[in-house]
Amino acid sequence: MAHPAGPYLGKDLLGLEELSAEQITAILDTAEPFKEISERPIKKVPVLRGKTIVNAFFENSTRTRISFEFAEKRLSADTVNFSASGSSVSKGETLVDTAKNLEAMRIDMVVIRHGASGSARFLAERIDSNVVNAGDGRHEHPTQGLLDLLTIRDHFRRIAGLKVCITGDILHSRVARSNLWGLRKLGAEVAVCGPRTLLPRDVEEMGVTVFRRIEDAIEWADVLNVLRLQLERMQGGFVPSLREYNRVFGVTRARLDRAGRDILILHPGPMNRGVEIDSDVADGPHSVILQQVTNGVAIRMAVLYLLAGGAPERAEAAKTGGGE
Ligand code: CP
Repeated sequence: MAHPAGPYLGKDLLGLEELSAEQITAILDTAEPFKEISERPIKKVPVLRGKTIVNAFFENSTRTRISFEFAEKRLSADTVNFSASGSSVSKGETLVDTAKNLEAMRIDMVVIRHGASGSARFLAERIDSNVVNAGDGRHEHPTQGLLDLLTIRDHFRRIAGLKVCITGDILHSRVARSNLWGLRKLGAEVAVCGPRTLLPRDVEEMGVTVFRRIEDAIEWADVLNVLRLQLERMQGGFVPSLREYNRVFGVTRARLDRAGRDILILHPGPMNRGVEIDSDVADGPHSVILQQVTNGVAIRMAVLYLLAGGAPERAEAAKTGGGE
């Protein structure tokens, strides 16, 4: 069964690397009117009525899975959640066989999180349904990158010209890659900061400034996007100890106070409090960590709407039940 390749995004959303600045801006602009739906007493509009979406999560998730599910339900799609444990994947069924069986039940879209880099593209090339990458290994997490961009834009009313430093475990991070692509395409200056063992070997060739000291990064930045140490992807030896990491690279109140100006603090979650970020920063006045989570629902609504063939200029009308 053929599925629409929306005129704005095409058939799938696999990463920000392959999107233009115009496409990224169109997603952010489409999310704006959708924000208001979540503030209503009845959080539902008929934008995706009749669509069936499978959320296939082969890796753990709290924010992304629930946020996609809320986005789908608020747009009136029918949703099914699928996880590897308890399914026939645990009996050896392949990803493509699993997806083809789901398609045989006449689905429209698959939202996939998987531990293997490239798995979303692999699937998208083999099934007709729209595929949305909800995080594939170390490759990309495009909707996280988009919700980070929206949150920064909400605060500064622009992205171009801002100095954004991504701190922490860049090596294992799909969030870092999606942020890098998105921020640079929209004209921000991007830097990274972390221990040498947690930076990709070719980091200098990625066209970013590299800070070896967190104090220098804080001195430079308008925005810090603080990444989690991905302990589950490390086989040991990347940092001497978590306490040592906090002492040298932790984003602490004392370090921010020394900078003497306001710096916007983002973190994609889940946080290791007291490791990459201290609680008084995470819960402090310049943290927009929960705003990121709120924006995640609107971003995912926008992505689903555009993949289903919606147009940014019709989003305002669509959310009141018209415009389609
Ligand atoms: N930020 C993020 O991807 O969080 P989850 O792993 O909880 O989905």
